[in-house]
Parts: sequence; C-alpha cells; structure tokens
Amino acid sequence: MKQNKNTGYTDILFGLLWGDEGKGKIVDTLTPDYNVVLRPNAGPNAGHSVEIEGKTYVAHHIPCGFAHEDKMLICGSGMAINPVSFLEELGDLEKVNPNLRKQLYVSHQATIITPIQVLKDCYREELAGKLGSTKKGISFTYADDALHIGLRIGDFAGLSARAMVVKYNEYRNTQIEILEKLYPDISTTELKNTEGKWMQQLEVLIQKISIVDTVKLANQLLSSGKNILIEGAQAALLDTRHGCYPYNTSSHTTPQMLLGYAGLPIHAVRDVIAVTKWYGTRVGGVNPPSTMLPEDNEVFRKAGNEFGSTTGRPRTCAWPDFPMMQHAIKMTHPNKIYVTKTDICPVDEIQNAVGYVLKNGQTVTEVPMSSEHIESVVYEKMPGWKFDPSDRSAIPKGLEVFLDTIRKNFPDIQIAGIGTGPARENILMFDKALV
Ligand code: IMP
Repeated sequence: MKQNKNTGYTDILFGLLWGDEGKGKIVDTLTPDYNVVLRPNAGPNAGHSVEIEGKTYVAHHIPCGFAHEDKMLICGSGMAINPVSFLEELGDLEKVNPNLRKQLYVSHQATIITPIQVLKDCYREELAGKLGSTKKGISFTYADDALHIGLRIGDFAGLSARAMVVKYNEYRNTQIEILEKLYPDISTTELKNTEGKWMQQLEVLIQKISIVDTVKLANQLLSSGKNILIEGAQAALLDTRHGCYPYNTSSHTTPQMLLGYAGLPIHAVRDVIAVTKWYGTRVGGVNPPSTMLPEDNEVFRKAGNEFGSTTGRPRTCAWPDFPMMQHAIKMTHPNKIYVTKTDICPVDEIQNAVGYVLKNGQTVTEVPMSSEHIESVVYEKMPGWKFDPSDRSAIPKGLEVFLDTIRKNFPDIQIAGIGTGPARENILMFDKALV
C-alpha cells in the first residue's frame, strides 16, 4: 500500500490482559514523542493514573497526555461519555494543565451515557449480579448504540437548551415505560434528581469542548505529518468480542479494533505496544486461573496497592500466566511490550503458570476454550527480587531472569521498558536513554 512520505505514523498502545497495568504512566512518558494522543474506546469505567510531583491524577475519559500543554488530545468515536464525570475530571486535570480544555476534541460519534443507563447497570448488578460491572452504565450505553436508539454527542451539538431536553425526553420516556413494565419494583423517582445536573453538564460540555469529526481530524493530522499515539482503555482480555465473555466489557479493546475506532489507515501503524504488569490482577466477576492463594494475594494487593482506580474495589492478584499471555499476544500481535510494577515483589519465590491440567485429566500449554475446563494450574518456581529503593535503575538478578523468560517465550517482542514505581520518573526505557 502506498504511503505519502510526508505522512505521520500511529502507534497503538493497549493493555495485554485484564487492565490496570499502569498504562496511564506509560502514555504520559511517551507523549512527548507524539503530536496527538487519541483515546478511541470506553468511558468512565476506565481509570488511568499518572503521579506527578507526589499527586495522583486519574483520567477516566481524557487521554493520558493531559499534563502536556503542547499536545492535541482526542476522545474518539468509540467512546462512551458521561458529561457529568467528564467535566469533573476535566476540572481536576486542569489543576495540572490549565490549558487542557483548548487541547481537547471530542468525537461527534461518541455515545452519551445517560442516567437511565447508569440506573439499569446498577439494577442489573443487584438483580442478576456478579458480572462485576463498574456500574457506570457502560454495557447499557453500548447496547442502546447497537440497538440504534442510543444518544450520540453529535445529536445534541448545535441544539438549543430546549431542543436538547426534547431530544432527551424522546429517548427517556420510552425507556422509562419499558423499564417500569419489565421491572415493576425499580425506582425511577431518584432519576429526576440526577437528570437535571446531567442535562446541564451535557449543555456545558457541548458549548465548551470542540465537538468534531475526529476520524476526519485524525486523518488530516496524519496526512500533514503528525504522529498519533492511540491509547486503548481496559485490555485485550476484556474485549467485547475476544475477551472473557460474559465477564468482559462492552467496547473493543484489541489494537486492531482500536485502530478501527480511530478510523486511521492500517499502513500508518508503526508500533503495536502492549502494557502488562509482571503479575496479573483482575477486578469484577471472575478470577484468573493463576489466582494466588489468599496469603500471597493479600501481600501483593497491599504492596501493589491493588484497588480499582475507578471503583476502589480490591483486585484479585494472580501469578504470571505464560499461556494466557501467549493467548493474548496471538490475537493482538504487539512488537513492543512494557512490563510494569517490577518494584512490587514482596515474596522470595515467584510462580509462573506454564500450563493447565484440565478436568478430563489432560495437561495442556494453551488456554482452553473455557476456563471452566481447568482443574489446576502447572507452575514453575523462580526466585523473587528486591529493588534497591535508592537505585531503581539497577535491575535485580531475579527480575533479569524473569524478563529473559519473557524474551525467550516471545522472541518477536521487544521489551521496551519497565515500570519501577508509581511516580512519573519511575520507568526504565530500554529502547532509548533513561527518562
Ligand atoms: P463494565 O465495563 O463496567 O461494563 O464492566 C465489565 C467488566 O469489565 C467487569 O468485570 C469490570 O470489572 C471490567 N472492567 C471494566 N473496566 C475496567 C478497567 O478499567 N480495569 C479493569 N477491569 C475493568
């Protein structure tokens, strides 16, 4: 495929397993290399943290280049946006970058999360329960979009305040009627309190933020030589199609799909960058096969502060699972990987999952079609490691051995860097000078 030599390139960054890998910090570190950071998918169910001068900032909708005053930041077409939390988040992030509002562009195709979808998500969790959603209304928002009844940002842009209310009520009244018939005990009276603020904030968002065709914008930027970092939310194993159904999210999270949301050309892709913690964590609904025994789980959760940045829920910690990583890599094809949280190793010995014994007695080294087929996990033990806190650049022996195991298992993927602590500067880049 022919590419104009003045055209920029795009790199796609994504979480490899179940999310919460510390993508925010990696995006923040890489942002100076790009002109644009584009967040293509999801919404306030995501929580990307960046620690700057001892304070942690959490971005839920806004791309993690937010602290860099000279970058364009795009909220792309596959996003689900709640205007109330979007503006709260913006206010918080403006403390670190007062110019932020002017750098932001939001897609006219992004879907709006309404109070009704939040109500349904909370009700479903209580009633049907145990899917472990973040209760932000995500699945009902994407479902309405798929049903062609959802509300998109562009539907409201340019409308008067009155016309906006009329538009919302068309959706709302039908939804309430259906809800009250389906679930007679659902209480919709509370809605009235939240809807007023929601509508007001939707108006503010549309007035104050540039609503544009982000696919057109991103392509124009690319053609004029600008380089774009696509920042995926969540992670490959939460993808709505390829993830661990039904305990997955409702947007696409794999790099191929992220590029689709961005609407950028395949031939413009330079690097596909995976981010993974060296150990695993999972929050919501189901535990990974290599879940640690309660004692180690507790020790890792405490040492790694493994609590959801969106919901505060305790995360389940799991040993590194090489077949699971292989499974995710085979469907996402990264050429680079960042391994995060290498400063967290509160044990003398670690265990790497290398296979599974199935319920039919067979031992396999590939992820079976359903984790319900797994009876037990086959582990290989390895020494743990400790970082010298005064010198995070000296890689401990045990970690070097672990990183070599990754290199041996995935020879086509370059380890581009490792995370060595929560702060912005705690990162060792292997493919360029220390940051
Ligand atoms: P939803 O995206 O809120 O509908 O939740 C669906 C599933 O995805 C649940 O198991 C959530 O815990 C999980 N999930 C959604 N967002 C994140 C995230 O940012 N990190 C980790 N898990 C997530």
